[in-house]
Formats: sequence, C-alpha cells, structure tokens
Amino acid sequence: MTGERTLAVVGAGTMGGQIAYQAALHAWDVRLIGRREERLQDARSEASKLLRRRVEKGRLDHDECEAALARVVLTTELDHVTEATVVIESVAEDREAKRAVIADIAERLCDEAILGTNSSTMPSSILADRVLDPSRLLNVHFFNPPLVMALVEVVQGPHTSEDSTRRAMEFARSIGKTPVLVARETYGFIANRILFIALQEAMRLVQDGYVSIDDCDLAVHQALGWPMGPFALADLVGLDVVEAILEEGARQTGDSRWEPLPLLRDRVQRGELGRKTGQGFSVS
Ligand code: CAA
Repeated sequence: MTGERTLAVVGAGTMGGQIAYQAALHAWDVRLIGRREERLQDARSEASKLLRRRVEKGRLDHDECEAALARVVLTTELDHVTEATVVIESVAEDREAKRAVIADIAERLCDEAILGTNSSTMPSSILADRVLDPSRLLNVHFFNPPLVMALVEVVQGPHTSEDSTRRAMEFARSIGKTPVLVARETYGFIANRILFIALQEAMRLVQDGYVSIDDCDLAVHQALGWPMGPFALADLVGLDVVEAILEEGARQTGDSRWEPLPLLRDRVQRGELGRKTGQGFSVS
C-alpha cells in the first residue's frame, strides 16, 4: 500500500541514513533499505545519538524524537520501494552499481512515485536508460551531514517532467530543507562545482609549500566564513569520495583543474580517508 507521505531511501550509508531520519523528523513514514542489517543498525544508532542530544539540549521534544525514530522501518528488502511516493537512491558513487540499483528500484516503483538520485557526480541522464519512465527521474542532492545542512539541489534532467521537478522541490521543503532548482545538468551542479575547485586551490597552496594545512583551514574559516576549513571539510566528506569526485570532474569536464593532486592521492593510497578512518588531512 502506498502512503502519501512515505519515503523509501535506498542505501544506508551516512547520507542515506541521515536523509531517512531527517524526513522522519518531519512526519514522513520512511523505509530505510540497506544491503546489510549491521549497517542499518549503525544508521539508527548514529541518528538516535544525534537526535537524543538535541533533546538534552532542549532543541527537540522528547516524544517527537522517539516518534521520529519509530517512523523509520529498517529493511534489507528492496520490495518496500513499492510503498513509497518518493524514493531517494543513495548508494555508493560507483557508476555500474548505481545503474544496477536504479534499474532494480525502477522495476518496483509505484505509478505515483518520483525517483531522486542523491549522486553528486552522476547527472540523472547517465541513469535514465535504466528506468521505464525517465520523466520521474532526477537528482535530489543533499549535503553532508544531511541532518544539519539545509541545502538540497534539485537538478532537472532533459528527461524529467516539470511535475516531477515541482514535486521534488516540494518534498525537500516538506522535510525542512531549502531546495534550489538547477535547471540544466552540469558537472558538480552548483555547490560542488564551486567547492571542489576551491578545495583544489587549497591543496595546491599546501602542496607547493605556501602554507600549512592548519593555517590554510584557519585562513579560510576566518576570512571567508566557512564553518570549517577545506581540509577539515575534506576529512568530513572522506578523502576517497573527494578523489572520486575530482576524477569524475576531470573526466566529464575535460578541465585539468579537476585532476586530483599527489597531496590527496598519497593519503588515499595509504588508506587515510579522513574521519571514517581516523586519519586524513587534519584528523589523526
Ligand atoms: N552528522 C550529523 N550531525 C552533526 C555532525 C555529523 N557528522 N557533526 C556535527 N553535527 C551536529 C552536531 O550534533 C551539532 O548538533 P546539535 O547542535 O543539534 O547538537 C551541530 O551539528 C553542531 O556541531 P558541533 O558543535 O559539534 O560542531 P560545528 O558547530 O563545527 O558543526 C558541522 C559541525 C555541522 C559539520 C559544521 O562544521 C559545518 O556545517 N561544516 C560544513 C559542512 C559542509 O560544508 N558540508 C558540505 C560538504 S560537501 C557535500 O556534502 C557535497 C557532496 O556531494 C560530497
């Protein structure tokens, strides 16, 4: 049965997990669909830790918090997609994996549902041939951490209908986010297009010996008002993810400014991937 405010999130990593709980906080019934039970439990415990801290700080009502946690059904069964009017795909940024998952979701999508991919590197046209009705497919792009970051980029593909775009914008608003409409597909959309070239400049300055990582972060934080400097942000996003976004940027734009630098590549090769491994640019 389809509920009018039922969301399915496919992929239970940091992004998918937090998107699920963000929607639950705004009274959506959610199916969080992951491949592994363990990862689903991690998503739930991370969210409950964050939301219960809001309760302790007096910023969230206790009953609302518990109701939100209860609204998310954790499952490994993709068939739950059929129950949703909005589906967000948030699996790893691997082109073939994503294309396969999108096809599996599309087979199960109910007639009224729209399908948003949270990909930051793949405009939905790359996925459109795997979907029966591409008029309901588009990018709905969240930022890390989704429980905190207000912005959502809604990117209309050449195949996406106006109605699906309008519904995606409405969905983002209904879960407390601020959507911006990206009217045509372009690599990195808006925020990442700007952010990752800035990150590259920061890495060049450090690699060429002009400034230390800590001082560069301090300068950007203090002078440009970023909540955290570029290196701390790269650690938050994950250095492997940063590398993949840059590589794909170089491929899709043909612009050498996107080529990952040795400063980044060396760390990724050593398995220093930022917060998730405890070592990166500014965590150790
Ligand atoms: N997940 C969820 N919530 C988090 C969090 C995380 N990883 N880290 C911090 N928070 C929450 C904290 O719980 C806290 O919430 P409460 O006030 O409700 O307790 C709040 O954020 C503030 O946290 P802190 O006081 O610990 O630290 P802070 O003030 O420095 O905020 C931050 C941390 C929210 C991460 C902030 O530094 C920030 O906004 N950084 C910039 C993030 C950013 O630019 N993200 C975009 C990345 S690019 C991207 O995502 C695109 C892509 O496609 C890869």
